[in-house]
Amino acid sequence: MNPTSKLADRQAETAFLPGLSIEQYLQQCRRDHPRLYRCLDPHRMHSEAGLEFYRGLRHVSQHFEREDKGGRGGAYRKAQLGNPLIRAVGIQKLFELACHGRPFSPRTQVVDVLGGNGTLCRAMRLLHEPESCPAIYTSDASEDMVADALRQGIAALRQPAQYMMLKDSCVDGMIFAYGTHHIPSHELSAALQEAYRVLRPGGRVVLQDFETGTPTARWYSEVLHRYTETGHDFEHFTPRSVRRLLQEAGFEEVRIQQVYDPCIVHESSPEQARIRLLDYLVSLFSLNKLLPEDGIKDEAFWDRVEKVVRGCSTLSPDELPQGVEAVTELTVRADSAGYRAELPRVALVGTGVRLGN
Ligand SMILES: C[S@@+](CC[C@H](N)C(=O)[O-])C[C@H]1O[C@@H](n2cnc3c(N)ncnc32)[C@H](O)[C@@H]1O
Repeated sequence: MNPTSKLADRQAETAFLPGLSIEQYLQQCRRDHPRLYRCLDPHRMHSEAGLEFYRGLRHVSQHFEREDKGGRGGAYRKAQLGNPLIRAVGIQKLFELACHGRPFSPRTQVVDVLGGNGTLCRAMRLLHEPESCPAIYTSDASEDMVADALRQGIAALRQPAQYMMLKDSCVDGMIFAYGTHHIPSHELSAALQEAYRVLRPGGRVVLQDFETGTPTARWYSEVLHRYTETGHDFEHFTPRSVRRLLQEAGFEEVRIQQVYDPCIVHESSPEQARIRLLDYLVSLFSLNKLLPEDGIKDEAFWDRVEKVVRGCSTLSPDELPQGVEAVTELTVRADSAGYRAELPRVALVGTGVRLGN
């Protein structure tokens, strides 16, 4: 058999998502999400490198597939769908940075590169009217995440950050957030180079993660590592490493900043607000090894969870970004919507512009 027909066979066999070939996805995308469709590069999807990814040989993010495939994606999706605005403060800020402070408009196209099942898109759609919300394309390596985003009517695409299926110079913003540490460190340069290729001249990249050694990064490296079934052995970032990555990929006007990125819930009583926030953290991050053996979530259990949470969320005032309204520790207080529980977190964010033609 000649190599060309072998490639054609592989193209025909390869599933893009469970039960959906690349061709079927392309047809569906053209019908349901024509603007995303116009940005897709079918040649890249059908290339050897693209097929290798879709056939599950490389770059698949195992942690975020379903539990029966060894991941913790089912619990993650459930917790996010039940609390769509809990991280709204940080999400709003990421889009302001991607859109360079300009008013949001559907004409602006932004790719949420590590988009999961569409958390950022759902939050932005709740925060903004359609005529003042950017067009958001949710991209992710996990088939379960992308299938779930598509089921919700979100324009979504399965692709690895390191080898994107999008055309050159086609979008205005690229956000890597809430999971950049999942990209292996030796592949981060490739991911940033891809962002540079896909952005239009003048387009902006936003890279968000957490600064190594800070309480927010220790939440992942200590708490998640200890209490999840999957462990969490990933490297976080330093301001220097983020700057270098962006500059080496060709970005200019690189700026590094700390961004206040709290988790906030509202409830009608202080105790409900406290428990809902703690429950969200246990569920979203699948802290299964913290769960009581008898399954009873009593006061002693919630006190124990709170102690673990406080150990990685109590900040000194100088660890907070200047000029934002923030708390320095897990706080429950009355506000205009009832009671609000707020968990402070600080993210490390780098931005850069793709200049040139
Ligand atoms: C922590 S989740 C964040 C999802 C979503 N942004 C949110 O905040 O809820 C990280 C996501 O990154 C995806 N991911 C990890 N490595 C990836 C890669 N190399 N390319 C594309 N997606 C990747 C995972 O599948 C997962 O859905």
